[in-house]
Amino acid sequence: MFGNNELLNLFTGQETPFYYYDLKLLKQTLHEAKVAADKRGFHVHYALKANFNSRVLAVIQAMGFGADCVSGNEVQRSIDTGFAADKITFAGVGKSDKEIVMALKHRIFAFNVESIQELEVINELAGQHGERANVSLRINPNVDANTHHYITTGLDENKFGVPNSELEKAAAVIKTCAHIDLVGLHFHVGSQITDLNVFKSLCVKVNEWKNWFEERGTYIRIINVGGGLGVDYNNPDGNPIADFEAYFDVFDKFLERNAQQEVHFELGRALVAQCGTLVSKVLYTKSGAKKNFLILDAGMTELMRPALYQAYHKIERVGESSTEEQLNYDVVGPICESSDSFGKEVLLPVSKRGDLIAIRTAGAYGEVMASNYNLRDEIRYLYSE
Ligand code: LLP
Repeated sequence: MFGNNELLNLFTGQETPFYYYDLKLLKQTLHEAKVAADKRGFHVHYALKANFNSRVLAVIQAMGFGADCVSGNEVQRSIDTGFAADKITFAGVGKSDKEIVMALKHRIFAFNVESIQELEVINELAGQHGERANVSLRINPNVDANTHHYITTGLDENKFGVPNSELEKAAAVIKTCAHIDLVGLHFHVGSQITDLNVFKSLCVKVNEWKNWFEERGTYIRIINVGGGLGVDYNNPDGNPIADFEAYFDVFDKFLERNAQQEVHFELGRALVAQCGTLVSKVLYTKSGAKKNFLILDAGMTELMRPALYQAYHKIERVGESSTEEQLNYDVVGPICESSDSFGKEVLLPVSKRGDLIAIRTAGAYGEVMASNYNLRDEIRYLYSE
């Protein structure tokens, strides 16, 4: 897609590096997700952590999604963007007292609670401030997400959720808390999950735990199954929109529920990954003893995923190729770290100083994870509608 001159013309003259957001693709993606969810009566909360760029967020809010937040600032950003407070959830293993109080005052929909101690703290703070809190208890279901170990969250060794061995106690503690209402159960097993069987295994565990609570006389109104749907990093133009129909279908088929029970999702990556591209300029080309290097003006400070998780992002030169000749390049950034690399042995048309390079599928966990290490400039943006 980036091998055309239309985008080259759009990008030429812009100061690099910048994130380019294709808002038309974003809207199409959101539309498909919404239609597939609405059809089944499912509720989707957008996981802000994936991308909280203000333009991107405004589009998501306007399409009627809820917001899944993991900090007080994300809660505030959602409110400021116009998300309804009763569609905001607040998750995370380490919510501070200040963040909890702020969310209580905004009367958000629910806290996804990750430990017994957190239940007690929310109860106490709600009491002190004359508020009530809805809570969903996050259960660690011990389901292997078959994804990178850094983004697996639902195994016994992970820090997330209440372990099975503590649930009896958690259920008893909830009954003693006068200022909280247990409204739901919450699960999330990991991110970039492309094997839908993982979600089927999750449904089996969710059914077990829901029954477990109901057998003890605790009615569960909300079943929150988290996010995690993966996208195609290898072929962003082939399948730019994830198969939301197939994804929601798994839950529709395998989650046991009655007509009053709501199913909630917290999708991040699948909604925003493909609409974002990091666009960078070749600063230098260099032939090392063993390698050809393309040295870009973007680095791990703009997109950290390759350095942090050895994540693959498709790399393309922007614009039609005037040369048939191709070379294998190590595509690297300017940061003083050897891990500051976007890809090794990447086959690209022979490139020169000043050429534009597109690093694809960078809309999720890209801009939000940027840093100013090496005292780098603030990241820039460009949008198309
Ligand atoms: N809900 C919870 C509780 C989560 O922890 C996450 C992501 C989501 C929802 C959204 O998951 P998604 O639909 O985006 O997969 N920085 C990593 C990904 C970290 C994911 C953290 N949790 C990356 O660049 O791959």
